[in-house]
Amino acid sequence: MTSPKTVLVVGGAGYIGSHMVWLLGRKGVDVVTLDNLSSGHRDAVLHGEFVHGDIADRQILDKVFRKYKFDAVMHFASFIQVGESMQDPAKYYQNNVVNTLNLLNAMCAHGVDKFIFSSTAAIFGEPEYSPIDESHPKRPINPYGWSKLMVEQALADYDRAYGLKSVCLRYFNAAGAHPDGLLGERHEPETHLIPLVLQAASGRRPHISVFGRDYDTPDGTCIRDYIHILDLAEAHWLALQYLQSGGESSAFNLGNGNGYSVESVIQTARRVTGETIPVQEGRRRLGDPARLVANASKIKQELGWQPAYFNLDTIVEHAWQWEYSHNPRFAKAS
Ligand SMILES: NC(=O)c1ccc[n+]([C@@H]2O[C@H](COP(=O)([O-])OP(=O)(O)OC[C@H]3O[C@@H](n4cnc5c(N)ncnc54)[C@H](O)[C@@H]3O)[C@@H](O)[C@H]2O)c1
Repeated sequence: MTSPKTVLVVGGAGYIGSHMVWLLGRKGVDVVTLDNLSSGHRDAVLHGEFVHGDIADRQILDKVFRKYKFDAVMHFASFIQVGESMQDPAKYYQNNVVNTLNLLNAMCAHGVDKFIFSSTAAIFGEPEYSPIDESHPKRPINPYGWSKLMVEQALADYDRAYGLKSVCLRYFNAAGAHPDGLLGERHEPETHLIPLVLQAASGRRPHISVFGRDYDTPDGTCIRDYIHILDLAEAHWLALQYLQSGGESSAFNLGNGNGYSVESVIQTARRVTGETIPVQEGRRRLGDPARLVANASKIKQELGWQPAYFNLDTIVEHAWQWEYSHNPRFAKAS
């Protein structure tokens, strides 16, 4: 496999992007991060150059593409809240679709033809079977999911017409943190289960809400697939090498393959943290399927990806290490 030398990471100051930038640094790749810091953090970019800018701004993109000779672009920059996308679809279509097209057009204009795209399980909509493989019907049920599917469609057309090669990685739930505590999840507002449970453990939140205990699952709570952030980053690295070695455009579902229920995440967090974690019971939320689990056989077979941190305890331990070291309550205690 051939490795890239210089990569542009857009959204590299965010949760997933910052772990990717760190991994690229470890692999000896020169990195330029472009991020508007709308939800990212400058201090999370631990390697390479940083450019404060927006992918909506073609002048900045032209400047960056003229200055550096990129082998590939990795695109993590988007808005990510499903609920907000229902309230304000324009915001999502503008940033996730229109601004992404701006980025793709700049790439084409500057002759950069390899692209890794952060797609999502939300493109599949209501699961018709589980685990979900790549040929599962794609019928998103919210603008966030549609915005990602639209880009996937655009990428197929950009390959056919302009020769832009891409890999779409459809993540299920990214989770955990850097094992050495260097990086972690800092979304504001936080909407992901594991950090929310751990914030309830650390006292930053009064409780964790459980939405429904009457699903058709062994303990009645929803089942989701949590993939460790470094396993996710490693999959991107394999995808980069694949394109750099002349691979054709492709799309892969990316998850741990093991589903964990909301209740088992709470139990694991109680075990790992030693805290009680109060729970507030709520009703089912609209559009929350009982089970969302990835079939990741394709990426395992074709790119040789294997998760190293598939155990939920490890994922929660790493996330807790991050929460613990960033919580003022524990800082005072130590
Ligand atoms: N976190 C998950 O579980 C998950 C699951 C599926 C897919 N994804 C996708 O992965 C990607 C990264 O997610 P994340 O959790 O790291 O989100 P994040 O919000 O932490 O990171 C997104 C980054 O992009 C930047 N950004 C947003 N719009 C920008 C723009 N127009 N120009 C420049 N920078 C911009 C933000 O400042 C932020 O640093 C997203 O595309 C998301 O849709 C995430």
